[in-house]
Amino acid sequence: MTSIFPDFSSKSAHLFERAQAVFPGGSTRNQTYFPPHMIYAAEASGCRMRDVDGNEFIDFHNDYTVTILGHAHADVERAIIEQTKRVFCSALAVPAEIELAEIICQRNPNFERMRFVVTGSEAVMNAMKAARAFTGRPKIAKCEGVYHGSNDFAEVSLDPTPQTWGQAAPQSVGFSDGVPQGVTDNVVVIPYNEPEAARKILDACADQLAGVFIDLISARCGARRASPEFIAMLEDFTTSSGALLVVDEVISYRAARGGAQEMLGVKPDLTTFGKIIGGGMPIGALAGRADVMAMFDSSGGKAAVPQSGTFTAHPLTMAAGCAMLRAYDGDAIDRLNELGDTARRQLQEALELSGIGGQVTGESSLFLMSFTDEPFHGYRSHYRATADRHHRIMASLFPKLLNKGVLMSGWGFGCLSTPMQQAEIDHLSQAVLESLREINEELALAAQ
Ligand SMILES: Cc1ncc(COP(=O)(O)O)c(C=O)c1O
Repeated sequence: MTSIFPDFSSKSAHLFERAQAVFPGGSTRNQTYFPPHMIYAAEASGCRMRDVDGNEFIDFHNDYTVTILGHAHADVERAIIEQTKRVFCSALAVPAEIELAEIICQRNPNFERMRFVVTGSEAVMNAMKAARAFTGRPKIAKCEGVYHGSNDFAEVSLDPTPQTWGQAAPQSVGFSDGVPQGVTDNVVVIPYNEPEAARKILDACADQLAGVFIDLISARCGARRASPEFIAMLEDFTTSSGALLVVDEVISYRAARGGAQEMLGVKPDLTTFGKIIGGGMPIGALAGRADVMAMFDSSGGKAAVPQSGTFTAHPLTMAAGCAMLRAYDGDAIDRLNELGDTARRQLQEALELSGIGGQVTGESSLFLMSFTDEPFHGYRSHYRATADRHHRIMASLFPKLLNKGVLMSGWGFGCLSTPMQQAEIDHLSQAVLESLREINEELALAAQ
């Protein structure tokens, strides 16, 4: 059988070679680089994609959970084309921005007022600014290992290692080289799903904390939901200390009409969004208590947090977002969540039948395969449990899956989209089973 990936004679490999002359490392977006070369997309429709070499994949990647309706959804396409004919780009607001805000605010009473931005990272950055302005305090707290986008503060302790993460309480570790100490000094890091240890850390700087940020289903902590005890602790701490509770729903919003916070009964002060709510166009948003969101109110002069941006609430994004959320409602959410349960169950069976073993976690229509039988509940335990064998298996599994027509992330994370049916889940679990059986044989041969 010829290999789809890697294939150094493919059009993708040649394009990647060309890209090296214009992009550092050949890529302008790190996450699209799958070593040893990038794969370039040619067309996509429903839950399938075709690359420039004509290879077809079922898309379980969905651009890091964005394309929840699949590709080229008729309603989204129509909404974008119609908006293009009306107003494409403008300094005047378009009515679609009110419509999209109404759709979101009506889905959860926690969203009293909202504001659009262009990315999830920008949403988190503005939530941090609002929390600081509202409380008059400098620090924010976040969970070790959790991704909240690409600003320096949000990235603190994103990927610490046993050499850097500190012995007891997590140390604040800058992500990029050159992060100023002012950043790490102002980010307090707590362990995910460890209420007692986290509470001690938070209590020690309670009067300095503007906000505590949490992702309720953090993939980087093993895609296990935040425990009721952890949530109760955070709610109790924020209520008593006056720090704001900020739930980052950039990925988890898909779990229910009102987001993962509705599913888990959380009442945050602020919520950040991104990914699906733009229907595939660039978007971020934040919503929450009216008095906190008033930090952005510039109607009476300079706002406490002046927030603007050339592409904020772009007409095409607003139109696409409305179409997307109208289609992803009620039955569509329930059906996709049920399909997610099926996918996780079938994948778990595949891991066991293959002899490789491991755990499939996740919620809603998200799944994470971790090739370890050790228990994990947060960043450090997942890091340790997957430190070696998991990465070797994934490095081998990713190209094998591509060769069987399955596209997902290179680290075991994937998600579903609404065009998928049972047949696509069967294809996924069969491809995983066959690939893992091959890997098991290769491992046995290597051990001889
Ligand atoms: C939980 C979470 N927050 C924030 C972000 C940042 O969103 P964006 O990539 O749109 O900047 C992401 C992106 O993956 C995310 O997963």
